[in-house]
Amino acid sequence: MMNHPAASSSRRVLLGISGGIAAYKACELTRLLVKAGHQVQVAMTDAATRFVGPLTLQALSGRPVALDSWHPLRASGMDHIDLVREADAFVVAPATADLLARAACGLGDDLLATLLLARDAVPTLLAPAMNRAMWAHPAVQRNAEQLRRDGVRLAGPGSGEQACGEVGDGRMLEPEQLLWEIEALWRPRLLQGRRVVLTAGPTFEPWDAVRGLSNRSSGKMGWALARAAWEAGAQVVLVAGPTALEPPHGVRTVPVETAQQMRDAVLAELELAATDLFIGAAAVADWRPQPAAEGKLKKTAGGEPPVPRLLLNPDILAEVAALPHGPYCVGFAAEAEQLLANAQAKRERKGVELLVANLGPQTFGRDDNACLLIDSTGAREFPRMSKLELARRLIEEIAARLAARG
Ligand code: CTP
Repeated sequence: MMNHPAASSSRRVLLGISGGIAAYKACELTRLLVKAGHQVQVAMTDAATRFVGPLTLQALSGRPVALDSWHPLRASGMDHIDLVREADAFVVAPATADLLARAACGLGDDLLATLLLARDAVPTLLAPAMNRAMWAHPAVQRNAEQLRRDGVRLAGPGSGEQACGEVGDGRMLEPEQLLWEIEALWRPRLLQGRRVVLTAGPTFEPWDAVRGLSNRSSGKMGWALARAAWEAGAQVVLVAGPTALEPPHGVRTVPVETAQQMRDAVLAELELAATDLFIGAAAVADWRPQPAAEGKLKKTAGGEPPVPRLLLNPDILAEVAALPHGPYCVGFAAEAEQLLANAQAKRERKGVELLVANLGPQTFGRDDNACLLIDSTGAREFPRMSKLELARRLIEEIAARLAARG
């Protein structure tokens, strides 16, 4: 499971649910939104209530569910206006083929459709969910295209096994992915049109067939940066060492194991397409054991324990920073003491513009972090906060510097 750092600010989400089997996932989405600190007002179509009970959504959201215009929740009697005016985002998940058609035509034949008509400037996200043949139908594609042109964001659908037993495009995105999509609606698109390559996680350097050298990096900071860069509109490639985290939504993940593989993957990505920004967030093992003989080293009774011979690994960040016409480079420094002095020296040694310095023992594996952001002009302190929040702040800082460079 991915972790859920608490949201920095509470937002109000109007969550419309239309009548498809994926409506059951709207319950989990409601729970995730509430857990992330947001307020959720649910509005369901009549068909949606055949799939999940409004009482379930009321209990999860802590608010009565809006069901139709004839039994309004608001004293004004105008739920179709008031509910969407109160919202910071309007999400419909699942959005059935029928709902898409009604929204594309501008019908107001039930409360949810009328809310979509009245949405005005509220950021709106629809999560289509239907059988793959229905999704591929030209009428549905036409409606989806029309809705995009009307300024609505369509999230997904994803691909995979469907409730009907068929396999293909049409699955609603998972609730966790939708949470990311929703929170992205409120983020400024500071890296729109930019390509970002990141390293994250530890590396694992095998010694024999079963043993190796690694470190305690969880990958969480790199994952948070990948998410924050994606939210800011960037095309993101994450070159990731072995972690327990799932590949982040919206990001292309290239899994690697060793420092050498990480280096090769990074250089291949930089070759592949023009890249604006490289962030080295990985805790790359500085040394690798010289590989032992094939198979597993065996204990011999009374024998001396084997001593691994360590070889120096390539320094990926320094290599990228030294590339002619290379990307803007941001490094991390995991220090154990004398943070500022060590990190300033490291920034110059590696030849990078910006360095994020943190205390290794106080960040590895945790959901929060504090750091110093160091450039040629000095250092700026970021107090302890969730890694996601910190990643968003760092991306803002980086984007401002990239913009200043042109
Ligand atoms: N880094 C890298 N390749 C390496 C070692 C480090 O790309 N072989 C990158 C890290 O991703 C990070 C930065 O360099 O962005 C600093 O990593 P850190 O481990 O703090 O520094 P080291 O260079 O390993 O120096 P030391 O361990 O001596 O402090």
